[in-house]
Amino acid sequence: MSKLKNKVAVITGGNAGIGFATAKEFIAQGAKVVITGRNQSLIDDAVSQLGSDTTGILSNASSVKDTENLVSKVRELFGRVDVLFVNAGVFYPTPIGQITEEGFDEQMGINFKGAIFTIEKFLPLLSEGASIINLSSVNAYTGMPNTAVYAASKAALNSYTRTASTELAPRKIRINAVNPGPIATGIFGKSGLPDDMIQGFASALQNRIPLKRFGQPEDVAKLVAFLASDEASFITGSEYNIDGGIMVNPLLG
Ligand SMILES: NC(=O)c1ccc[n+]([C@@H]2O[C@H](COP(=O)([O-])OP(=O)(O)OC[C@H]3O[C@@H](n4cnc5c(N)ncnc54)[C@H](OP(=O)(O)O)[C@@H]3O)[C@@H](O)[C@H]2O)c1
Repeated sequence: MSKLKNKVAVITGGNAGIGFATAKEFIAQGAKVVITGRNQSLIDDAVSQLGSDTTGILSNASSVKDTENLVSKVRELFGRVDVLFVNAGVFYPTPIGQITEEGFDEQMGINFKGAIFTIEKFLPLLSEGASIINLSSVNAYTGMPNTAVYAASKAALNSYTRTASTELAPRKIRINAVNPGPIATGIFGKSGLPDDMIQGFASALQNRIPLKRFGQPEDVAKLVAFLASDEASFITGSEYNIDGGIMVNPLLG
């Protein structure tokens, strides 16, 4: 399959989880891929697994300065971007009543401000007909306890995606959001919650998913690769849940 042949793709947060699986899928489909992250050795590790069609660039998505440097490196290397996968994100569950200004700024700074300025700074490099995919979450629509700031960061991203679709349409740039349900990645281990709490939360959640499993990063990668490809050329301003059916409220059963 070579649905992304000759396309240049940038994936923020591509050294682990969904971003890494998507980098693998993009490369399998013929793309040249740039991945970013905040830790040089994790990036180097990922690049060595992904192979010679990958470039790793150290860049913190919450820093506009880093993003400007990233854009100028990508410009020097490739001169254009055809696919921008805005994936970098963090999940720091915090109960209302314990939300701090620092915690708010950190989570919003990566998940929302980071996403907006990644797109803002890459705009001049995006080719006509480019595809932007924003990695959001079903949490944008749930009332899951302790996720108020995380959920709001993703809801804001989905709102931004709809508005951007109309503004970017004259350049034939498509922009869509993907809303995963629970996906088996390292994100929960980085959340600051103790392991036993994560295990309890994972099995309770799994039970609520009609398909009775967590998604795999590869499941999301395939959807993102479709939206990145010209096969999705009439899709913009949309959102796709990929969640094993967890957003269905069965009322009974
Ligand atoms: N897993 C799920 O259940 C799930 C569900 C819905 C939505 N999502 C969303 O999916 C996206 C990817 O998450 P994941 O589950 O794949 O998590 P993950 O395995 O923790 O991967 C996150 C990636 O983002 C990078 N990253 C985090 N903060 C960054 C920053 N400031 N600048 C650059 N890179 C940064 C991480 O690298 P470094 O930390 O090394 O920099 C890592 O490569 C996130 O936006 C998340 O909100 C995940």
